[in-house]
Amino acid sequence: MEYINNELRLGPLKKDLLSLCANYVRPIYVYDLDFVSQRYQAMAKALGKTRLFYAVKANPHVQILATLKKLGAGADVVSLGEIKRALESGFSVHDIVYSGVGKTRHEISEALKLGIYQINVESLPELQRIGDIARELKKTAAVALRLNPDIDIKTHPYIATGLKDNKFGMELSLIPELSATLKKYSDSVELVGVSLHLGSMMMEFTGYQEALGILKKVYVDLQKQFPTLKRFDFGGGVGIFYDRLDLQREESLLSDYAKITNEILGDLGCELQSEPGRWLVGHCGVLITQVQYIKKTSAKNFIVVDAGMNHLIRPSLYQADHLVMPLIKRSGEIRGDVVGPICESADFFVKEGVFSEVHENDFIAIMDSGAYGYSMASVYNLQELPLEICI
Ligand code: LLP
Repeated sequence: MEYINNELRLGPLKKDLLSLCANYVRPIYVYDLDFVSQRYQAMAKALGKTRLFYAVKANPHVQILATLKKLGAGADVVSLGEIKRALESGFSVHDIVYSGVGKTRHEISEALKLGIYQINVESLPELQRIGDIARELKKTAAVALRLNPDIDIKTHPYIATGLKDNKFGMELSLIPELSATLKKYSDSVELVGVSLHLGSMMMEFTGYQEALGILKKVYVDLQKQFPTLKRFDFGGGVGIFYDRLDLQREESLLSDYAKITNEILGDLGCELQSEPGRWLVGHCGVLITQVQYIKKTSAKNFIVVDAGMNHLIRPSLYQADHLVMPLIKRSGEIRGDVVGPICESADFFVKEGVFSEVHENDFIAIMDSGAYGYSMASVYNLQELPLEICI
């Protein structure tokens, strides 16, 4: 991201954004597909033989999915809706890992009829439900056990998933009962994997390292009882910087992550799987919005734009620090809050920021919005959803 002749450009190919606003009617998410490819290739290279299953929830745009599929990715999904979207975008059932704590009977039954590659099981009753439905359908379900090692990765509490307080995965103390249940359903369920996902926005990996060590032992023990066990899915969660542009430091974090993973899991001799979302697409998208008013009060300036928390909820929900950059850089500076039109005081993108000056009708980009942007958008206040454009 940089300015050329005071115009903001996106991605390594420095793509033009301003021309996309020629017929502007409402906020636009712009995704740079070349940037997505570059990120995928960097991660695939760092993780060597690991198969990457892109976490569709981060950004389910068909062209992003199709781009990743062409590069060799699989898809990590959490609903029948995401299964359908992945299939529509070119993935096959053999590319799909199905996670999620609340799979309904209907969803499980559809997944089994389709022959989904792997179902990551999140509870004992879910395992029993899968076993019963597969039996009825005379199918064999290929399952991985998502285990929860009770480990803190020091992230925002809303996106931590590997603590025993969290609803995700299964406690290690449940393993004997899980083994017995798997044996009971040996006609309809086959154990193929152990899976882990500790949460999102991991910026350091001590907790991750500890969790891998613990689950490696579990894998080895389970393998003795279940020779079909052949995959270790170590989840997603590698973070990105939102508050600064530092792709080099990010690559070095990625290489630390890969090193830890390979050192611990390398000698298991099994298939390795990962479920990255944010790292692949976060930087590749921006949300473009138009300044409506510069509202000056005795307390501060409000830069009122036409995008709101309904279009990008991350600042309101996780206090995420997205950079805000005008598409055309002017010479002065302005200090204030960037806020949307929604009738809530939580409707802000930046509090007390300092930006290069903006005027009414100027366009600004809310940076690094390619992950968990549009996918979490709503029509609250009956504001229309943003447009999406791939470049
Ligand atoms: N695998 C599973 C089972 C997941 O639940 C997730 C994300 C991922 C993989 C991908 O994680 P990533 O590599 O993207 O960190 N809305 C929040 C993030 C929620 C993450 C949910 N699960 C945000 O905007 O920060």
